[in-house]
Amino acid sequence: MPAFSEEKLREVQKIIARYPEGKQKSALLPLLHLAQDEFGGWLDTPVMDYVASLLQIEPIEVYEVATFYSMYNLKPVGKYVFEVCQTGPCMINGSDQIIDYIKHRLDISVGETSADGMFTLKTVECLGACGYAPMMQLGKFYKEHLTREKVDAIIDECRKNAAVNN
Ligand code: FES
Repeated sequence: MPAFSEEKLREVQKIIARYPEGKQKSALLPLLHLAQDEFGGWLDTPVMDYVASLLQIEPIEVYEVATFYSMYNLKPVGKYVFEVCQTGPCMINGSDQIIDYIKHRLDISVGETSADGMFTLKTVECLGACGYAPMMQLGKFYKEHLTREKVDAIIDECRKNAAVNN
């Protein structure tokens, strides 16, 4: 069974304390984020079971939420996850071509991770940045008005950062 460090457990208690007594389930989303960050970037079943035990809820209640939101990864992902929006406004501004270009550049399909373990491509629904279409989320950042050139630059930047941090 995975387990948070003492320090992370203190963070867990702080998150739970934001909600009224008996409503600890409300802490589920932030705890899943914490768990995803802590346990390798994705939510394995034992990790979800661990989160359920922390909140004293049934594992199924965690699975329901984790499988609903695209921001949770249910299988291992690369160091960088490209979450390209494919909802209407992004679609009519060329998100399909951007997705195809990323597939071609990284030699992967949607849902796959590049052979070097560096990049994962996901498609997601509207990220609330329709005015900047086509766009994607990369970690905590939005990458907007995407073009092939911008995608190339993003891939290069990720590779450079990965090399520096190794
Ligand atoms: S449709 Fe892509 S951000 Fe809204």
